[in-house]
Amino acid sequence: MPDELCEYITRAEPRIDLVVDQDLLPPMRFPGDHDGDPAFTRSPEQQARFEELVDSADVLYGIPDTNPADLTRTVRANPRLRWVHTMAAGGGGQVKAAGLTSAELDRVVFSTSAGAHAATLAEFALFGVLAGAKDLPKLQAHQARKEWAPRWAMRQLSEMTVLVVGLGSIGRATVAKLSALGAKVVGTSRRDVDVPGLSAVVHPDDLAAAAAEADAIVSTLPGTDATHQMISADVLAAVRPGTIFVSVGRGTVVDEQALVSALEDGRIGFAALDVFYTEPLPSDSPLWQLPNVVVAPHTAALNDAEDRLIAELFVENAGRLLDGRPLLNVVDTVEFY
Ligand SMILES: NC(=O)c1ccc[n+]([C@@H]2O[C@H](COP(=O)([O-])OP(=O)(O)OC[C@H]3O[C@@H](n4cnc5c(N)ncnc54)[C@H](OP(=O)(O)O)[C@@H]3O)[C@@H](O)[C@H]2O)c1
Repeated sequence: MPDELCEYITRAEPRIDLVVDQDLLPPMRFPGDHDGDPAFTRSPEQQARFEELVDSADVLYGIPDTNPADLTRTVRANPRLRWVHTMAAGGGGQVKAAGLTSAELDRVVFSTSAGAHAATLAEFALFGVLAGAKDLPKLQAHQARKEWAPRWAMRQLSEMTVLVVGLGSIGRATVAKLSALGAKVVGTSRRDVDVPGLSAVVHPDDLAAAAAEADAIVSTLPGTDATHQMISADVLAAVRPGTIFVSVGRGTVVDEQALVSALEDGRIGFAALDVFYTEPLPSDSPLWQLPNVVVAPHTAALNDAEDRLIAELFVENAGRLLDGRPLLNVVDTVEFY
């Protein structure tokens, strides 16, 4: 955490006794680099000091070394621990990987940074839908050949229906941007939700039918057992030829082999993908080579505001904890998101 954010946290919530020792933390290489420099190591004395600090805190800002095994260790070593704020929006997956008992999950509350990446990912979603609508790969292919191609009609966002799968912070931000540009936006939710800009809400059970009506689909869902390959071969079989697909939630939500087939036969006309089933994307994945795909290396969320937004969320939640009010973004310890 940058020093100015440490100062911000203690100024904004003076009841926090913030203990930070930058010498014990891997330096950040870029904004939002919560793993820090992999070349960083601690001496045995530094490691002992680090664990002593971690094991004496009531609250942790981040999972120690972003390593679920270290989270398990400190939950068991530190009976005072009552709240851990994870840096990732999908921090539920790390909590799941820690394999904590239900008594431990009851004792310590976990929260995520969902929301800190919503605006940038919504912009990437917009970029993907527009790049598909305006035939970016075709334009680039013609340009590479210096070819003044015969004119063709491009799609227009304000005439399109976009299906946003998942209406959490990313989904809602995406709905706001697409609807502001005139698209008809349909969203999926398991609940009765009221989201400004949405034309309709459909249940995820009706995903294939909703996909069949869409010109573009944006997947924003977290990776859980329940969302695993929810964008299935059946959903991709239902789409109309040329449908645009954007994936910014988790790659495990998509049946990637079925997506490759749909891209090859034109059911999906264009895809902009920031997340993949396996990351880094294996070098033999056909997605690298397909001309109608833009591959982003899980980087579309990173932005200069991220660390400040996470610190603001932490301050808000710290106030809530100290005042005995419910925290925001609490990890669901059944589905872990
Ligand atoms: N590309 C990146 O770098 C990047 C950055 C940030 C986040 N992410 C990923 O994006 C995910 C979503 O982020 P967010 O900020 O939008 O999270 P969020 O605000 O927690 O929203 C998650 C949404 O997913 C829905 N959901 C969860 N399980 C579901 C299921 N089985 N069926 C249908 N809907 C389900 C939830 O619906 P309910 O309202 O019914 O609970 C909720 O609306 C994160 O978990 C993370 O994995 C990726």
